[in-house]
Amino acid sequence: MMTDREPMPGTVLLSAQDIAAIVARLGGEISRDYEGRLPILISLLKGGVVFLADLIRQITIPHHIEFLQVSSYGGSTTSSGQVKILTDLEMSIQGRDIIVVEDVVDTGTTLAYIMEVLRLRNPASLEMCALLRKRSANPVAIPVRYLGQEIPGRFVVGYGLDYRENFRHLPFIAALEPDPAAS
Ligand code: PRP
Repeated sequence: MMTDREPMPGTVLLSAQDIAAIVARLGGEISRDYEGRLPILISLLKGGVVFLADLIRQITIPHHIEFLQVSSYGGSTTSSGQVKILTDLEMSIQGRDIIVVEDVVDTGTTLAYIMEVLRLRNPASLEMCALLRKRSANPVAIPVRYLGQEIPGRFVVGYGLDYRENFRHLPFIAALEPDPAAS
């Protein structure tokens, strides 16, 4: 049905408590797997920053953090298919253990591109950690080593995720209603 209502956060898909449990599990897995090493967690701005901030406080081993600002969506609600590095890493990742921390994998375009760029810099290892993966994503193309949860292929906001830069601050993840990507 056609509507001109401004899209707003509606159905809550993950509550703050749900997210906390997922983040604690992921932090535990990373802490176990990287015991005795000094991984660098690379957060993809802007969406990944809230997740990273919580995740590192659930990791009990020493690690470093870095930021990479990329953009594929711009102001649009669907992927443009073009990824741009807006701000690059500060430190070298050569010979380091890298975990890329992403809020959501949708088409997989962003992570596929970033992983290729980082691989060329010769890290010792390169893994991905994503809080969410949409069911529409191609799981073969994007092997996410540390995955929080699969969600329906809907436009979601909150916990770092935005709609036109709004709603990143919400402590939960909700579907935007009506879905601006649906025609
Ligand atoms: C979003 C999200 C992921 C990417 C996922 O970022 O944070 O990085 O899209 O989509 P994909 O799997 O289809 O590539 P966006 O470009 O909206 O930037 P933002 O993180 O600054 O909001």
